[in-house]
Amino acid sequence: GVRKKQVSVLCVGLDNAGKSTILRHLKSGKADVQEIVPTLGVNSERLTLGSLCLTVFDMSGQNRYRDLWQHYYSSVQAVVFVMDSSDKLRLPVARHELESLLQHPGIYTRRVPLLVFANKSDKPESLSPISCTQMLGLSSLSDSPWHICASNGLTGDGLEAGFMWLHDQLC
Ligand code: GTP
Repeated sequence: GVRKKQVSVLCVGLDNAGKSTILRHLKSGKADVQEIVPTLGVNSERLTLGSLCLTVFDMSGQNRYRDLWQHYYSSVQAVVFVMDSSDKLRLPVARHELESLLQHPGIYTRRVPLLVFANKSDKPESLSPISCTQMLGLSSLSDSPWHICASNGLTGDGLEAGFMWLHDQLC
């Protein structure tokens, strides 16, 4: 058959945002949450997305591992940034990490597309994607094409819309 296009994607965001849960959903159609433990360092997963074959680097969001993210910036074709939209306390921290990412030459000189998941949209206290966009300062920060979606990593709601956008950016 036709060989699928190979694409590398970096998945980042603060610890506990739901990165591994979202990726598990994409891989198997459901998130077996019992099995998911905090990521140490990095895990890589291979997934099929339409006509693309993705290698996704699922980075740990824990503070002590965040310095690892930058080593991937120059070699990936897209970034998925997962935030916990119900974690208002740490939104400034998420903003700071996103800012560092978008100001890295590996990202902005190549205009690497950025998909943001405003995850945990099921929680009553969660912020809308519009509020998250404002709080993250996305419009002014990013030279790259970006897109934000509300998502629920547990049910998979919102994931397809987000990854369809990414697919179109990468084809
Ligand atoms: P690190 O590996 O530490 O960087 O975390 P992570 O971003 O990979 O988060 P992980 O997928 O381990 O999820 C953290 C917790 O959030 C788990 O208990 C998940 O079950 C839960 N979770 C993930 N997505 C959602 C969601 O959309 N809604 C709710 N309510 N909980 C979620």
